[in-house]
Amino acid sequence: IQAEKAGYKHFMLKEINEQPRAVRDTTLGRVSLETGEIFLPEMQISQQEFKAATGITIAACGTSWHSGLAGKFMIERLARLPVDVDYASEYRYRDPIPDATNLGLLITQSGETADTIAAQQELIRKGSKTLAICNVVGAAITRAAQGTITTNAGPEIGVASTKAFTAQLTALFVFALYLAQQRGTITPEESLHYVTELSKIPAKLEEVLRTVDAQCCELAKSFSTARDFLFLGRGIHYPIALEGALKLKEISYIHAEGYPAGEMKHGPNALIDETLPVVCIATKDPADPSSVLKYEKTLSNIQEVTARSGRVIAIAVEGDHEITQLVEHTIHIPAAPELLLPILEVVPLQLLAYHIAVRRGCDVDQPRNLAKSVTVE
Ligand code: G6P
Repeated sequence: IQAEKAGYKHFMLKEINEQPRAVRDTTLGRVSLETGEIFLPEMQISQQEFKAATGITIAACGTSWHSGLAGKFMIERLARLPVDVDYASEYRYRDPIPDATNLGLLITQSGETADTIAAQQELIRKGSKTLAICNVVGAAITRAAQGTITTNAGPEIGVASTKAFTAQLTALFVFALYLAQQRGTITPEESLHYVTELSKIPAKLEEVLRTVDAQCCELAKSFSTARDFLFLGRGIHYPIALEGALKLKEISYIHAEGYPAGEMKHGPNALIDETLPVVCIATKDPADPSSVLKYEKTLSNIQEVTARSGRVIAIAVEGDHEITQLVEHTIHIPAAPELLLPILEVVPLQLLAYHIAVRRGCDVDQPRNLAKSVTVE
């Protein structure tokens, strides 16, 4: 087992460090760096059907549900197709109304999660075609799907998902670009721009791993005794806040909540005092006005937290010195187009959860009461 961990103390840490490769391998052979074209020959759905589609239903569980929530932003922005994201465990209990022009998309690391299988069956029963994003070749969900984008993250052993998540975000981005090209909602120049930026992500992930680990380890010293944690984000960064909270809950047993930054004033502000750590995702793409606008709104939400003595840890892009003046701690990550930032943002959140769990003496790879693959409903 020690050999399988390749010198790392835990599988989770090894898998966090494998993310540059997982993202690279999930992109490999699917994008042209010359033309920006996306190739997904595994899709058994015609361009006509993609053009005629009226909506997408994503169903997934746990961490995979979080990647689905982020995927909604990618698909709606690039392919201009409305996306619903359902908990797979809820989907069949509300008599959903998909039809033949709706596409179902199941996201699953294992491809064997019972609730996700049941959601897929319900979609198929109601007339939808289904696609899958899955990390296990030949798994049950892929066999019932009309095409699977395999995330090439490699086997994931740690119960808390890390590299499978960033590989899912990558696959969703590639799928959103593919859909946009099939539907004609993106120019070749935009495609090339996005594909070029995507190809820079593995090196940026390596940079994040190099630069933030020691800082997260240090932060864990100050925050490992907290009773609760809040994670905030806006837009596509909100699902990453949810994922940061889930990582902490799963492996350190600290109660944590992810919340949309703008919803704080409708309740959670009442929780803030000097004992509450608040992790705020406050990144921006300076070239994208809508991203800058969201960032500015998030800054004012952060000021509301600091005004109530909450202890803020901000995730921001390199070169952002405005935010460092406002908050107690800032973790910097490289800049990227907004739709790709989540892949970078989640890494410090994974490392923070990891170091806190280690300090608390928790079983990082095998948290109590949890299973890697949940094959009961
Ligand atoms: C379990 C795992 C999670 C995972 C979820 C969904 O709860 O512990 O890490 O996100 O199942 O699994 P799937 O294999 O469908 O992605």
